[in-house]
Amino acid sequence: PTVAVFFGGRSVEQPVSAASGSGVANALRERGFDVTAIGITRAGEWVELPSGAAFAIDSADALPEVTADAGKSVAIDLGPGSRPIADVYFPVLHGPYGEDGTIQGLFEMADVPYVGSGVLSSSLSMDKEFSKRLLAAEGVPQGAFAVLKPGEELDADAVVEQLGLPIFVKPARAGSSLGISRAKSADELAAAVAKAREVDEKVVFEAAFMDVREIEMGVLETLDGDLEITFPLEVLAMGEDGWFDFDAKYLDNPEPFNLHPDYPEGVAERAQDLARKVFRLLDCRDLARVDCFLAPDGTVYLNEVNTMPGLTPMSGVPQAFAAAGVSYGDLVERLVTLAAA
Ligand code: DAL
Ligand code: MG
Repeated sequence: PTVAVFFGGRSVEQPVSAASGSGVANALRERGFDVTAIGITRAGEWVELPSGAAFAIDSADALPEVTADAGKSVAIDLGPGSRPIADVYFPVLHGPYGEDGTIQGLFEMADVPYVGSGVLSSSLSMDKEFSKRLLAAEGVPQGAFAVLKPGEELDADAVVEQLGLPIFVKPARAGSSLGISRAKSADELAAAVAKAREVDEKVVFEAAFMDVREIEMGVLETLDGDLEITFPLEVLAMGEDGWFDFDAKYLDNPEPFNLHPDYPEGVAERAQDLARKVFRLLDCRDLARVDCFLAPDGTVYLNEVNTMPGLTPMSGVPQAFAAAGVSYGDLVERLVTLAAA
Protein backbone atom coordinates (compact mmCIF):
# COMPACT_ATOMS: atom_id res chain seq x y z
CA PRO A 1 0.00 0.00 0.00
CA THR A 2 0.96 3.64 -0.44
CA VAL A 3 1.08 5.62 2.79
CA ALA A 4 0.58 9.28 3.74
CA VAL A 5 2.29 10.08 7.02
CA PHE A 6 1.12 13.18 8.92
CA PHE A 7 3.25 14.84 11.57
CA GLY A 8 4.08 18.10 13.29
CA GLY A 9 0.73 19.56 14.18
CA ARG A 10 -0.98 22.29 16.10
CA SER A 11 -0.23 21.03 19.61
CA VAL A 12 2.64 21.91 21.93
CA GLU A 13 3.98 18.44 21.14
CA GLN A 14 4.84 19.56 17.57
CA PRO A 15 8.60 18.91 18.02
CA VAL A 16 8.06 15.39 19.34
CA SER A 17 5.63 14.61 16.53
CA ALA A 18 8.07 16.01 13.96
CA ALA A 19 10.72 13.61 15.27
CA SER A 20 8.29 10.66 15.59
CA GLY A 21 6.62 11.19 12.23
CA SER A 22 9.68 11.81 10.11
CA GLY A 23 11.17 8.68 11.68
CA VAL A 24 8.10 6.69 10.68
CA ALA A 25 8.04 8.10 7.13
CA ASN A 26 11.70 7.34 6.55
CA ALA A 27 11.49 3.85 8.05
CA LEU A 28 8.54 3.03 5.77
CA ARG A 29 10.48 4.32 2.76
CA GLU A 30 13.36 2.07 3.71
CA ARG A 31 10.89 -0.81 3.71
CA GLY A 32 9.98 0.05 0.12
CA PHE A 33 6.68 1.85 0.74
CA ASP A 34 5.68 4.76 -1.45
CA VAL A 35 5.36 7.46 1.21
CA THR A 36 3.96 10.99 1.10
CA ALA A 37 5.08 13.02 4.11
CA ILE A 38 2.61 15.72 5.14
CA GLY A 39 3.96 18.16 7.69
CA ILE A 40 1.46 20.23 9.65
CA THR A 41 2.73 23.53 10.98
CA ARG A 42 1.84 24.95 14.37
CA ALA A 43 -0.47 27.35 12.58
CA GLY A 44 -2.22 24.39 10.95
CA GLU A 45 -0.89 24.71 7.41
CA TRP A 46 -0.30 21.42 5.58
CA VAL A 47 2.92 21.08 3.57
CA GLU A 48 4.18 18.19 1.50
CA LEU A 49 7.74 17.60 2.62
CA PRO A 50 10.56 16.46 0.36
CA SER A 51 11.41 12.78 0.54
CA GLY A 52 13.85 12.07 3.34
CA ALA A 53 13.04 15.18 5.40
CA ALA A 54 14.15 14.38 8.94
CA PHE A 55 13.55 16.11 12.25
CA ALA A 56 15.45 15.22 15.41
CA ILE A 57 15.35 16.47 18.98
CA ASP A 58 18.96 17.46 19.61
CA SER A 59 18.95 20.44 21.90
CA ALA A 60 16.59 22.49 24.02
CA ASP A 61 17.16 25.70 22.07
CA ALA A 62 16.71 24.13 18.68
CA LEU A 63 13.66 21.89 18.95
CA PRO A 64 12.59 20.68 15.52
CA GLU A 65 9.53 22.17 13.91
CA VAL A 66 7.70 21.80 10.63
CA THR A 67 7.53 25.24 9.04
CA ALA A 68 5.58 26.43 6.02
CA ASP A 69 8.75 26.81 3.95
CA ALA A 70 9.81 23.21 4.63
CA GLY A 71 7.84 21.98 1.62
CA LYS A 72 5.05 22.88 -0.74
CA SER A 73 1.71 23.92 0.62
CA VAL A 74 -1.00 21.33 -0.06
CA ALA A 75 -4.74 21.15 0.31
CA ILE A 76 -5.86 17.56 0.81
CA ASP A 77 -9.50 16.93 0.21
CA LEU A 78 -10.93 14.98 3.12
CA GLY A 79 -14.58 15.46 2.31
CA PRO A 80 -16.98 12.58 1.70
CA GLY A 81 -16.29 10.97 -1.66
CA SER A 82 -12.92 12.68 -2.07
CA ARG A 83 -10.02 10.93 -3.73
CA PRO A 84 -7.45 9.71 -1.20
CA ILE A 85 -3.80 10.59 -1.77
CA ALA A 86 -2.65 7.20 -0.42
CA ASP A 87 -4.08 3.79 0.50
CA VAL A 88 -3.38 4.29 4.21
CA TYR A 89 -3.14 7.47 6.29
CA PHE A 90 -0.78 7.36 9.25
CA PRO A 91 -1.25 10.26 11.69
CA VAL A 92 1.88 10.36 13.82
CA LEU A 93 0.50 13.33 15.70
CA HIS A 94 0.67 13.87 19.43
CA GLY A 95 -1.75 15.96 21.45
CA PRO A 96 -4.82 17.96 20.39
CA TYR A 97 -5.69 18.14 16.66
CA GLY A 98 -4.00 14.83 16.04
CA GLU A 99 -4.20 12.35 18.88
CA ASP A 100 -7.60 13.49 20.12
CA GLY A 101 -9.99 12.19 17.47
CA THR A 102 -10.18 15.36 15.39
CA ILE A 103 -8.05 14.30 12.44
CA GLN A 104 -9.42 10.78 12.85
CA GLY A 105 -12.87 12.29 12.24
CA LEU A 106 -11.65 13.81 8.98
CA PHE A 107 -10.25 10.44 7.90
CA GLU A 108 -13.57 8.77 8.76
CA MET A 109 -15.44 11.32 6.63
CA ALA A 110 -13.04 10.74 3.75
CA ASP A 111 -13.48 6.96 4.28
CA VAL A 112 -9.78 6.21 4.13
CA PRO A 113 -8.09 3.55 6.30
CA TYR A 114 -5.83 5.03 8.94
CA VAL A 115 -3.43 3.80 11.58
CA GLY A 116 -4.39 4.01 15.23
CA SER A 117 -7.39 4.46 17.44
CA GLY A 118 -10.71 5.82 16.25
CA VAL A 119 -12.50 9.05 17.08
CA LEU A 120 -13.99 8.34 20.50
CA SER A 121 -11.10 6.25 21.75
CA SER A 122 -8.56 8.90 20.73
CA SER A 123 -10.57 11.67 22.26
CA LEU A 124 -11.25 9.82 25.51
CA SER A 125 -7.65 8.74 25.93
CA MET A 126 -6.38 12.25 25.27
CA ASP A 127 -8.60 13.74 27.95
CA LYS A 128 -7.19 12.91 31.36
CA GLU A 129 -10.45 13.85 33.08
CA PHE A 130 -12.76 11.61 31.10
CA SER A 131 -10.37 8.68 30.77
CA LYS A 132 -9.86 8.65 34.54
CA ARG A 133 -13.60 8.85 35.23
CA LEU A 134 -14.39 6.04 32.85
CA LEU A 135 -11.60 3.78 34.08
CA ALA A 136 -12.46 4.50 37.72
CA ALA A 137 -16.01 3.36 37.02
CA GLU A 138 -14.52 0.10 35.75
CA GLY A 139 -12.43 -0.39 38.87
CA VAL A 140 -9.05 0.27 37.28
CA PRO A 141 -6.61 1.14 40.08
CA GLN A 142 -5.48 4.76 39.76
CA GLY A 143 -4.46 7.60 42.02
CA ALA A 144 -6.87 10.16 43.45
CA PHE A 145 -7.52 13.13 41.19
CA ALA A 146 -9.49 16.35 40.87
CA VAL A 147 -10.44 18.52 37.91
CA LEU A 148 -10.49 22.26 37.33
CA LYS A 149 -12.88 22.91 34.46
CA PRO A 150 -12.27 25.71 31.95
CA GLY A 151 -13.14 29.05 33.51
CA GLU A 152 -13.41 27.56 37.00
CA GLU A 153 -11.44 29.25 39.77
CA LEU A 154 -8.87 27.36 41.82
CA ASP A 155 -9.64 26.61 45.46
CA ALA A 156 -6.11 25.56 46.41
CA ASP A 157 -6.93 24.59 49.99
CA ALA A 158 -9.77 22.34 48.91
CA VAL A 159 -7.53 20.58 46.38
CA VAL A 160 -4.79 20.08 48.97
CA GLU A 161 -7.31 18.81 51.50
CA GLN A 162 -8.61 16.30 48.99
CA LEU A 163 -5.32 15.07 47.54
CA GLY A 164 -2.57 15.87 50.06
CA LEU A 165 0.84 17.03 48.86
CA PRO A 166 2.68 16.97 46.57
CA ILE A 167 0.24 17.24 43.69
CA PHE A 168 0.91 16.85 39.98
CA VAL A 169 -0.80 19.59 38.01
CA LYS A 170 -1.40 18.72 34.38
CA PRO A 171 -3.11 20.23 31.34
CA ALA A 172 -6.05 17.83 30.84
CA ARG A 173 -5.29 17.30 27.14
CA ALA A 174 -1.59 17.31 26.37
CA GLY A 175 1.46 15.09 26.47
CA SER A 176 5.24 14.84 26.58
CA SER A 177 5.06 16.30 30.12
CA LEU A 178 4.54 19.80 28.68
CA GLY A 179 2.71 22.18 31.02
CA ILE A 180 3.08 19.83 33.99
CA SER A 181 4.42 20.78 37.41
CA ARG A 182 4.68 19.15 40.79
CA ALA A 183 3.28 21.46 43.47
CA LYS A 184 4.64 20.99 46.97
CA SER A 185 2.38 23.53 48.69
CA ALA A 186 -1.01 25.19 48.28
CA ASP A 187 0.84 28.35 47.23
CA GLU A 188 2.63 26.57 44.42
CA LEU A 189 -0.68 25.32 43.05
CA ALA A 190 -1.72 28.68 41.59
CA ALA A 191 1.47 29.05 39.54
CA ALA A 192 1.19 25.43 38.46
CA VAL A 193 -2.38 25.98 37.29
CA ALA A 194 -1.34 29.07 35.33
CA LYS A 195 1.41 27.06 33.63
CA ALA A 196 -0.94 24.18 32.80
CA ARG A 197 -3.53 26.63 31.49
CA GLU A 198 -1.05 27.96 28.96
CA VAL A 199 -1.57 24.57 27.34
CA ASP A 200 -5.18 23.72 28.24
CA GLU A 201 -7.87 25.65 30.08
CA LYS A 202 -8.91 22.40 31.73
CA VAL A 203 -6.52 21.16 34.41
CA VAL A 204 -6.22 17.85 36.22
CA PHE A 205 -4.71 17.42 39.70
CA GLU A 206 -3.23 14.09 40.65
CA ALA A 207 -2.16 12.97 44.10
CA ALA A 208 1.54 12.10 43.77
CA PHE A 209 2.44 8.50 44.50
CA MET A 210 5.30 7.98 46.92
CA ASP A 211 8.16 5.55 46.30
CA VAL A 212 6.68 4.14 43.13
CA ARG A 213 8.55 2.87 40.10
CA GLU A 214 7.27 4.16 36.75
CA ILE A 215 6.74 1.48 34.16
CA GLU A 216 5.49 1.55 30.55
CA MET A 217 4.27 -1.02 28.08
CA GLY A 218 3.75 -0.94 24.35
CA VAL A 219 0.56 -2.63 23.15
CA LEU A 220 0.34 -3.72 19.52
CA GLU A 221 -2.65 -5.38 17.93
CA THR A 222 -2.06 -8.44 15.82
CA LEU A 223 -3.79 -9.18 12.53
CA ASP A 224 -6.10 -11.68 14.22
CA GLY A 225 -7.16 -9.14 16.84
CA ASP A 226 -4.98 -10.32 19.74
CA LEU A 227 -2.73 -7.98 21.65
CA GLU A 228 1.04 -8.18 21.89
CA ILE A 229 2.19 -6.45 25.05
CA THR A 230 5.83 -5.69 25.70
CA PHE A 231 7.64 -6.45 28.90
CA PRO A 232 7.17 -3.37 31.10
CA LEU A 233 10.20 -1.17 30.83
CA GLU A 234 11.17 1.00 33.76
CA VAL A 235 11.66 4.76 33.57
CA LEU A 236 15.04 5.67 35.03
CA ALA A 237 15.46 9.24 33.89
CA MET A 238 14.17 11.76 36.37
CA GLY A 239 14.30 15.50 35.84
CA GLU A 240 15.49 18.14 38.26
CA ASP A 241 12.29 18.01 40.24
CA GLY A 242 12.37 14.25 40.56
CA TRP A 243 9.91 13.28 37.83
CA PHE A 244 10.00 12.32 34.15
CA ASP A 245 9.79 15.79 32.59
CA PHE A 246 10.36 16.84 28.97
CA ASP A 247 14.12 17.30 29.35
CA ALA A 248 14.49 13.95 31.10
CA LYS A 249 12.47 12.33 28.30
CA TYR A 250 14.22 13.82 25.32
CA LEU A 251 17.28 15.87 26.14
CA ASP A 252 19.29 14.91 29.19
CA ASN A 253 19.39 11.16 29.13
CA PRO A 254 20.77 9.02 26.37
CA GLU A 255 19.13 5.98 27.98
CA PRO A 256 15.96 6.98 29.85
CA PHE A 257 14.77 3.40 30.39
CA ASN A 258 15.83 0.09 31.83
CA LEU A 259 14.57 -2.40 29.26
CA HIS A 260 15.24 -5.44 31.45
CA PRO A 261 14.31 -4.46 34.98
CA ASP A 262 13.85 -6.91 37.81
CA TYR A 263 10.36 -7.01 39.19
CA PRO A 264 8.95 -8.99 42.07
CA GLU A 265 7.24 -12.20 41.01
CA GLY A 266 3.99 -11.65 39.11
CA VAL A 267 4.35 -7.90 38.64
CA ALA A 268 5.11 -7.94 34.91
CA GLU A 269 2.11 -10.19 34.24
CA ARG A 270 -0.20 -8.05 36.35
CA ALA A 271 0.97 -4.91 34.55
CA GLN A 272 0.40 -6.57 31.19
CA ASP A 273 -3.08 -7.68 32.26
CA LEU A 274 -3.87 -4.11 33.23
CA ALA A 275 -2.54 -2.80 29.90
CA ARG A 276 -4.72 -5.30 28.04
CA LYS A 277 -7.76 -4.36 30.10
CA VAL A 278 -7.47 -0.59 29.58
CA PHE A 279 -6.65 -0.95 25.88
CA ARG A 280 -9.92 -2.84 25.50
CA LEU A 281 -11.95 -0.60 27.83
CA LEU A 282 -10.94 2.49 25.85
CA ASP A 283 -11.59 0.71 22.52
CA CYS A 284 -8.02 1.39 21.41
CA ARG A 285 -6.87 0.15 18.05
CA ASP A 286 -3.53 -0.87 16.54
CA LEU A 287 -1.13 0.68 19.05
CA ALA A 288 -0.94 2.34 22.45
CA ARG A 289 1.46 2.87 25.29
CA VAL A 290 0.15 2.19 28.77
CA ASP A 291 1.98 4.00 31.58
CA CYS A 292 1.73 2.68 35.13
CA PHE A 293 3.10 3.09 38.62
CA LEU A 294 4.39 0.11 40.56
CA ALA A 295 3.87 0.61 44.30
CA PRO A 296 6.18 -0.90 46.93
CA ASP A 297 3.45 -3.43 47.89
CA GLY A 298 3.37 -4.70 44.30
CA THR A 299 0.13 -2.99 43.25
CA VAL A 300 0.14 -1.69 39.69
CA TYR A 301 -1.73 1.59 39.25
CA LEU A 302 -2.63 3.10 35.91
CA ASN A 303 -1.05 6.45 35.09
CA GLU A 304 -2.40 6.96 31.58
CA VAL A 305 -2.84 5.65 28.06
CA ASN A 306 -1.28 7.22 24.96
CA THR A 307 -2.98 6.32 21.69
CA MET A 308 -0.17 7.70 19.54
CA PRO A 309 2.86 7.21 21.72
CA GLY A 310 6.15 8.86 20.93
CA LEU A 311 7.98 7.05 18.15
CA THR A 312 11.28 8.91 18.38
CA PRO A 313 14.50 6.98 18.98
CA MET A 314 14.32 8.14 22.63
CA SER A 315 10.76 6.96 23.13
CA GLY A 316 9.66 3.96 25.15
CA VAL A 317 7.52 2.10 22.62
CA PRO A 318 10.20 1.63 19.94
CA GLN A 319 12.69 0.58 22.61
CA ALA A 320 10.32 -1.82 24.33
CA PHE A 321 9.44 -3.51 21.03
CA ALA A 322 13.06 -3.63 19.91
CA ALA A 323 13.88 -5.44 23.16
CA ALA A 324 11.15 -7.93 22.24
CA GLY A 325 12.68 -8.49 18.80
CA VAL A 326 10.32 -6.16 16.87
CA SER A 327 12.50 -3.57 15.15
CA TYR A 328 11.33 -0.03 14.43
CA GLY A 329 10.90 -0.94 10.75
CA ASP A 330 8.88 -4.04 11.69
CA LEU A 331 6.71 -2.03 14.05
CA VAL A 332 5.75 0.68 11.57
CA GLU A 333 5.26 -1.84 8.77
CA ARG A 334 2.97 -3.89 10.98
CA LEU A 335 0.92 -0.78 11.78
CA VAL A 336 0.42 -0.03 8.10
CA THR A 337 -0.52 -3.65 7.46
CA LEU A 338 -3.07 -3.52 10.28
CA ALA A 339 -4.67 -0.37 8.93
CA ALA A 340 -4.75 -1.74 5.38
CA ALA A 341 -6.29 -5.08 6.41
N1 DAL B 1 2.85 12.10 24.18
C1 DAL B 1 4.17 11.57 23.96
C2 DAL B 1 4.59 11.75 22.57
C3 DAL B 1 4.25 10.15 24.33
O1 DAL B 1 3.28 9.63 24.79
O2 DAL B 1 5.30 9.57 24.13
MG1 MG C 1 0.78 11.11 27.76
